[in-house]
Amino acid sequence: MAAYPMTLRNLLESRLAQALQKAGAPPDAPPMLGLATRPEFGDYQGNGVMGAAKRMGLKPRQLAEQVVAALDLGDIAEKVEIAGPGFINITLKNEWLASHLGQLLAGERLGVAQAAAPQTVVVDYSHPNLAKEMHVGHLRSTIIGDALVRILEFLGHRVIRHNHVGDWGTQFGMLIAHLDHLERQGQDLSGQLADLEEFYRAAKQRFDEDQDFARLAREYVVRLQGGDAHCRQVWQRFIDESLQHCEQVYARLGVTLKREDVRPESAYNDDLPCVVEDLRKAGWLYESQGAQCVFLKESKNHKGEATLDIIPKSDVELHLAIIALEGEGREPTPVIIQKSDGGYLYATTDLAAVRYRAGELKADRILYIVDARQDLHLRQVFAVARAAGFVPASCSLEHHAFGTMMGKDGKPFRTRQGGTVKLLELLDEAEIRALALVTEKNPELPEEERRHIAQVAGIGSVKYADLSLNRTTDYIFDWDRMLALDGNTAPYLQYSYARVQSLFRKSGLESLGTQPALHLAEAAERNLALKLAQFTETVESVARECYPNLLCAYLYNLAETFMRFYESCPVLKAEEPTRSSRLLLCQGTARTIQTGLGLLGIETVERM
Ligand code: ARG
Repeated sequence: MAAYPMTLRNLLESRLAQALQKAGAPPDAPPMLGLATRPEFGDYQGNGVMGAAKRMGLKPRQLAEQVVAALDLGDIAEKVEIAGPGFINITLKNEWLASHLGQLLAGERLGVAQAAAPQTVVVDYSHPNLAKEMHVGHLRSTIIGDALVRILEFLGHRVIRHNHVGDWGTQFGMLIAHLDHLERQGQDLSGQLADLEEFYRAAKQRFDEDQDFARLAREYVVRLQGGDAHCRQVWQRFIDESLQHCEQVYARLGVTLKREDVRPESAYNDDLPCVVEDLRKAGWLYESQGAQCVFLKESKNHKGEATLDIIPKSDVELHLAIIALEGEGREPTPVIIQKSDGGYLYATTDLAAVRYRAGELKADRILYIVDARQDLHLRQVFAVARAAGFVPASCSLEHHAFGTMMGKDGKPFRTRQGGTVKLLELLDEAEIRALALVTEKNPELPEEERRHIAQVAGIGSVKYADLSLNRTTDYIFDWDRMLALDGNTAPYLQYSYARVQSLFRKSGLESLGTQPALHLAEAAERNLALKLAQFTETVESVARECYPNLLCAYLYNLAETFMRFYESCPVLKAEEPTRSSRLLLCQGTARTIQTGLGLLGIETVERM
């Protein structure tokens, strides 16, 4: 196996850290390496001196000088300068950059190393509620989650996908009762279930209007959860139908989730009584109006971050008494674990799930790609799970939240009639719109090819629009913007890729044969080389922080840097050895865009 050079970032960071140590900084003082904020500041910038100097009681400039004196960048850096109060600006040497990038481009993986210590990572994503059809509300989790699993897998981690579908709530009693009724009447069920949305509506209407039906529906929930064979069988039909529908959406979207990744709520059913028992034994359960609850209180840790702490059963009354004396506003929040009628809740299932993931699957990280509105719920689950010892301290529990998808009117995205937008219809529209654009631009291409491009660009646009924005904010769904051929969009990147490929077709070189040497004489060449060399650290940071928009921003930036290079540096008309060196930069760009988009779950085409 080829040896991978360290990422540029890691290399510079470790050298800076060593220099800080030699200059006498505390062992935990971070070098705080970042990209230079302006080209005239060089390539990278170390910002750790100011913090370290403060702790050491030194003047930052003085420490900066000592650090620079101790900094061993050998033949890596052209220039190391101190700026402002104590920033350390680093400019890389062209020859070094050329040979470093040459090494990265020589391998299949563009220099992205496999993790030295692979982790087991459970990723909980997509997770629709099976009572209804998948709608736009499920799009974000599905798309963001799928990009993250691809990236983590690419880095060599053991990824376990968990599609935590909702298949166990009270609505299922109603749906089974309705299905059962139709079946007895001898109706064609496949036809009825083809539109799950309509089926749900019909069931709900009967539930609201017919008391006997409502009673039956409630009975069916209890029977279902108790394992009654008939209920189970009708329920299974319904679930199969609904999952098939999800799989249709996944196939259209190019999402990697398979049937075996479905780990539904019902899978934890038998474990729920044990969760309750364990919490009771640990002394956390407090009975309130017949329900078994855990009480939690908000506080702040030493860093000033909000934390949720669990209140032991024995302290709950004291706590409530104090609150009663001191007045409102600081009430602990109860999380119901078991209702007075013996039923379990969403939180109970999540506790069983997190215990299974940490305990049985031995996860090192568990990622929840879940709507921001479930933040409190997940914080509660995490707090209880930790306190109960379901999850060891070494396992990281991470809620990677995302905002709501909004329409152009600033309200949650809906159809013109105000209904929920069905995903399959949305994807159809994406492809129809993309086809119109492709046809306008390339009327001469055969229809089959135009349709293929439209599919790749249309689906790519929907995914990229979601991935390219910081996921924590709400996002506005806007067809024109996401399909635009300029700006930070999938079509722009796909087009950039196709453009480089067409250059290769023109050059008559299918590939470059043995890899030529790189020569970085022009600023535009150097800028492009530096960008290309930063792919690997970008992928690593997305795996760590779970913000796919960082990879999108990187790719967009790369494509723009390429365009500037392409405008100022002739490629095919250049003399050797410049011509080959430039062709290698072009090829590196195409491969990086293709690999990067692939990690986001987005395809490319050879011409567009
Ligand atoms: N099915 C839930 C919903 O549609 C989302 C599940 C999120 N994952 C979890 N472990 N709670 O709201």
